[in-house]
Amino acid sequence: MDQESGFVDLARVKAERLRVSNVRWIAQRAEDLDVGAARFDLVCIGNAFHRLPRRVVAGRAYQWLTPTSCIALLWSGAPWAGQAQWQRTMAALVQRWIARAGAEDRIPAHLDATIEKTPHREVLIDAGFEVIGKFEFLTPHVWTIEALVGFAYSTSVLSREVLGARTPEFAEELRGELLALEPSNRFEQDISSAYDLARRPAMT
Ligand SMILES: C[S@@+](CC[C@H](N)C(=O)[O-])C[C@H]1O[C@@H](n2cnc3c(N)ncnc32)[C@H](O)[C@@H]1O
Repeated sequence: MDQESGFVDLARVKAERLRVSNVRWIAQRAEDLDVGAARFDLVCIGNAFHRLPRRVVAGRAYQWLTPTSCIALLWSGAPWAGQAQWQRTMAALVQRWIARAGAEDRIPAHLDATIEKTPHREVLIDAGFEVIGKFEFLTPHVWTIEALVGFAYSTSVLSREVLGARTPEFAEELRGELLALEPSNRFEQDISSAYDLARRPAMT
C-alpha cells in the first residue's frame, strides 16, 4: 500500500510483468488501513517509516501481527548517495531540481531532528516490540541513465506529478550531465540496503 495511487500503479505494473498475481494493491494512508480480523506473519515498510506517523503505525502493526511475528523497516540508499563523480553530479542536480520544482516542502521539516530525538527502534519498543537488530548489506549494481531517470521519478520529490510540464527538461538535463561523465552509460554503485527487524513477543 501507498498513499499515492501513482506508486501503487507502478508496483502493480511491475508485478504483472513478473507474473505475480497474489497481491492486493491498496492506495491509502497506512494509518487508515482497516485489516478487520486478518492477522499477518510479517509487516514490511519500505523506505517510508520516517514519513509515517510512526507511533500510530507501529501500534497498528503490532495488532496486525500474530505473536512472534515480525515487523521489518526496509531501507536503501539513493543512487546518488556516494562519492563517485557521477553521484556528486547527480546529487547536485537533484537538489537543484527539488528547489526548481518547489518540492522542498514534500520533505517534512525537522524530519532528521525528530528521528534523532526518538530513533525508530525506540518507537518500536514503545509499541511493545522486541528489537532483534539492524542488518545491512551491499549489492553491486550498474545503473543506466534510463534507470536513474526512472528512479528519480519514483521518489516523492521528483515524481512526474511534481515535475509537471518540466519533466522532459529534467530528464534531458540529467542525461546530458551524466552521459558527459560516463559515455558508456554504465553507472556503478554498491547499493547499501538495510532492515530493522523487531518481533511481537509471544503471548504470556
Ligand atoms: C521513498 S518512497 C518509498 C516507496 C516504496 N515503498 C519503496 O520502498 O520504494 C516513500 C513513500 O511513502 C509514501 N507515504 C508517505 N506517507 C504515507 C502514509 N501516511 N501512508 C502510506 N504511504 C505513505 C509516499 O507516498 C512514498 O511513496
